[in-house]
Amino acid sequence: MRDIKDLREEILISLKNASSNEYEALKIKYLGRKGVITSILRGLKGVPKEERKIIGMEANKLKKEIEEFFKQHKVERAKSSSGKFRDYTLPGRKNLPGAVHPVSRALDEIINIFMRLGFSIEYGPEIESDYYNFEALNIPKHHPSRDMQDTFYIAESDKLLRTHTSPVQIRTMERQKPPIRVIAPGRCYRKDEIDPSHSPVFHQVEGLYVDENVTFADLKGILSAFAGDFFGPDTKTRFTPSFFPFTEPSSEMYVSCVFCGGKGCNVCQYTGWLEVLGCGLVNPKVFEYVGYDTEKYSGFAFGLGVERFAMLKYGIDDMRLLYENNIEFLKGVIK
Ligand code: DAH
Repeated sequence: MRDIKDLREEILISLKNASSNEYEALKIKYLGRKGVITSILRGLKGVPKEERKIIGMEANKLKKEIEEFFKQHKVERAKSSSGKFRDYTLPGRKNLPGAVHPVSRALDEIINIFMRLGFSIEYGPEIESDYYNFEALNIPKHHPSRDMQDTFYIAESDKLLRTHTSPVQIRTMERQKPPIRVIAPGRCYRKDEIDPSHSPVFHQVEGLYVDENVTFADLKGILSAFAGDFFGPDTKTRFTPSFFPFTEPSSEMYVSCVFCGGKGCNVCQYTGWLEVLGCGLVNPKVFEYVGYDTEKYSGFAFGLGVERFAMLKYGIDDMRLLYENNIEFLKGVIK
């Protein structure tokens, strides 16, 4: 009897000090076929009848107590950290494969096309100064795009969130001498209400090509090649006069409607043409800001909205869809 009492003490202490990964071994040590308690119960045969009864009762009590401990312990382990039972019979969760977002897809494609045409990529800061975003681009002090209503200014500083990627033109020309062939993709910000064709955060790709003897024919050649690559080889382009302070002359490029092929539909408002980007020959005033010789160098520039290109290519008629993260839309939009 004394031995059983001592044994109980010993077992309880060892269980208390054991870590849960040692429990299995202890269970075998005490309750296994050759375990300590099993041996005692087996050895009872040789004990006189009276004693056998008492020792047997005590040994069985200890056995139950230890079994109970392990039962409890198993229950504990089956609990998750939130205290709920885990149901190991539940089927596993499916891994949904990811997909590239339509804006990223369009952007990747635009970048690839211009890389093949010999352009390299430049990046600029999204937090810009008035100088790079407006002044060095020849945008006058009173220009409406500088308005507080249109631009996010950063309080008590001359900093703002860039309203276009054009400031990267200036930063690139300050760093490099011609020849220059770069595109600058990135996020832009304007104080626009969210609607089917506007978002306060959007993406542009800027382009800049500077060398000796660059003409409007180079602009038309490069941008028409790009349009054909992006929208398909049957795409026609058209250039109409426009105005931007940083280009002279300025133009807007139209492509033959990607939906009706130019016959006329409600997307192109029955004109057969879609306006897709602004462009022009770099205004010599911009070259003066970066110290380029305006007699020697000429160049062209362009700026396009990535969302618009994505929407035209993938047949999306509402820009909000691009930002709502609706999984069904994202799964189904691109075949
Ligand atoms: N920066 C213009 C905008 O945000 C787009 C643009 C037009 C860029 C003509 C150019 C350009 O480089 O030549 O609306």
